[in-house]
Amino acid sequence: MNPIGAAKKMAINILPVSSAELEEQVASFTELFKETVNGGASLGYVAPLTHNAARDYWLSLRSELDSGARLLLAAYAEGQLVGSGQLYLPYWPAARHRAEVHKLLVGATMRGQGVGKQLMTSLHETSRRRGRSLILLNTRRGGSAERFYMRLGYKEVGVVPGHIAAAGRASLRQRDFVSGACVVGGKVSRVGLNVHFKLIVLNTKTRRAQSVPLTLRFPAQLGKIN
Ligand SMILES: CC(C)(COP(=O)(O)OP(=O)(O)OC[C@H]1O[C@@H](n2cnc3c(N)ncnc32)[C@H](O)[C@@H]1OP(=O)(O)O)[C@@H](O)C(=O)NCCC(=O)NCCS
Repeated sequence: MNPIGAAKKMAINILPVSSAELEEQVASFTELFKETVNGGASLGYVAPLTHNAARDYWLSLRSELDSGARLLLAAYAEGQLVGSGQLYLPYWPAARHRAEVHKLLVGATMRGQGVGKQLMTSLHETSRRRGRSLILLNTRRGGSAERFYMRLGYKEVGVVPGHIAAAGRASLRQRDFVSGACVVGGKVSRVGLNVHFKLIVLNTKTRRAQSVPLTLRFPAQLGKIN
């Protein structure tokens, strides 16, 4: 067994990662990402994920890390990378109160020990400090990550059918995704809330369009995390 996984309750350090630090540690990020996708998580990729594709993904983040449009946090146990999570911060004037959680992952041997929750707590604190009170994320419908987010206080605001392609037995299958949202911080801006979105999706195979209502309700009805 991985020595890190064998030891329970070890101290976890959550730290922001700059583009230069990401370059230095890209081998660890690549391994963690590959292991997670090839272990069944989606995270935008389809297994089998190659070393080069995983590495290219991390290196592609550098410009957004430099511009501040994206924040990368890493979780370390005894100096080794065991998890990471990202915040995407849209810069448009109408979107400066919100942030998106991207690619939260914890190494398989470290799951169930609170690392994911600590990463999310740090992402929420960072969002709050930056004045971003509405947090959005997407996750596979019916998956374990959905239960994890719901437990943290996220509420489902809509389901997008066939949002991702997943590896099936013979070919790629499409899987539904859930869009989740929560509000962080004591003082909540009402900007952007109480909005009903309609996402129109078109299946070009069946030529059928479908309307997906996504509802961002008044804060009290959204998950609220202080
Ligand atoms: C989802 C993920 C990040 C959770 O990280 P983790 O470190 O295992 O989660 P934690 O140990 O911090 O769990 C936090 C809480 O969620 C609960 N939880 C975690 N996984 C759960 C599951 N599969 N089902 C139900 N609850 C779950 C825990 O019981 C805990 O609840 P508590 O605080 O009341 O005790 C991790 O499983 C992972 O990396 N999965 C693969 C990648 C992935 O799917 N990422 C999400 C992309 S959208």
